[in-house]
Amino acid sequence: MRKKSILDLQSMKKKGEKLTWITAYDFPIASFAEQAGIDMILVGDSLGMVVLGYEGTIPVTMDDCISHCQAVRRGAKNTMIVGDMPFMSYQISDESAVENAGRFLKEADVDAVKLEGGRRMCSRIRAITDAGIVVCGHIGLTPQSSGVLGGFKAQGRTVESARELILDAIAIEEAGAKFLLLEAVPPEVTEYITKKLTIPVYSIGAGASCDGQLIICGDMLGLFQAFTPKFVKKYANLAEITISAIKEYCDDVRNVKFPEDKHVYHISEDIAEFEKL
Ligand code: KIV
Ligand code: NA
Repeated sequence: MRKKSILDLQSMKKKGEKLTWITAYDFPIASFAEQAGIDMILVGDSLGMVVLGYEGTIPVTMDDCISHCQAVRRGAKNTMIVGDMPFMSYQISDESAVENAGRFLKEADVDAVKLEGGRRMCSRIRAITDAGIVVCGHIGLTPQSSGVLGGFKAQGRTVESARELILDAIAIEEAGAKFLLLEAVPPEVTEYITKKLTIPVYSIGAGASCDGQLIICGDMLGLFQAFTPKFVKKYANLAEITISAIKEYCDDVRNVKFPEDKHVYHISEDIAEFEKL
C-alpha cells in the first residue's frame, strides 16, 4: 500500500471512509501493523507506560521518542507516522517547540507531530505549521496535564466543558493543525466537532461519530497489564500467550526436553578424529 498523506486523510473524511490508526513503539509491531494494512501509526509518548514501565508519560524524553520513532520507521516504511511530542518538548516556547518538532522529521523521518492542548497551545501549533511540519492536535483527556485535570478522567461531560472543547477544536483548526485527536470525550461532542471542522477528527475513547479511530497497541494486544480503560477493546491477550510460552520453555530446559538433536550443530568431520583430541 502507498503511504498516505494529509490529502488522503482529507479525501477519506469527504467520502466518509474511516481511518485506522494504532500506536507502535518498536520495529516488530510497526511491521505487523503495516502488514495488516493500517492507515497510520502513532509513536505515542504512551511508550513510557507501555514499553518503558513508567506510571505515566511525564518522564519520557525527546531522545526516547526519537529512538522509538526510528525503530517504527524501519518497521513501517510505507505508513504515515505521527511522532508524539513528549512533556516539556513544546510547553516552554514556540522556538523550542519548532526545534523539537523538527528533530522528529530530521532524525526519525516521521510525517507529522502531535501535541496536547487547545487554545493555550495555538501559538505552538501555528509556529510548527509555519515551519512546514504537519501538526495533529489532541484535546479531551490530555495525559501530560492530568495533574491539572485531576487524573485520567473523561472530559466534556458537562455543557460548559463541552463548550470549552468545541472552542479549542475550532482554534486548533484555525492555528493550522491538519487533523485532530479527541480522547475520552462524549460521542455527542465528537459528532458536533467532526461536523464543525473541515480537518479530519479522530477518536480514542470518543465514540464512532468521527473520521477514524486510534487504539493503543499495548491495550488492544493485551501487552499492557497495569489497567484497561473503559474505551479499550482487547483483540488479543499477548501477555497470556507470552507467559505461557516462557513457562513452557523453562519446563523444557529443566526437564532436558530442549534443545533436541534438531536444534544443534553436529561436528562435520569424522567423530573418531574429534575423540582423539
Ligand atoms: O501517547 C499516546 O499513545 C497518545 C494516545 C493515548 C492518544 O497520545
Ligand atoms: Na501521548
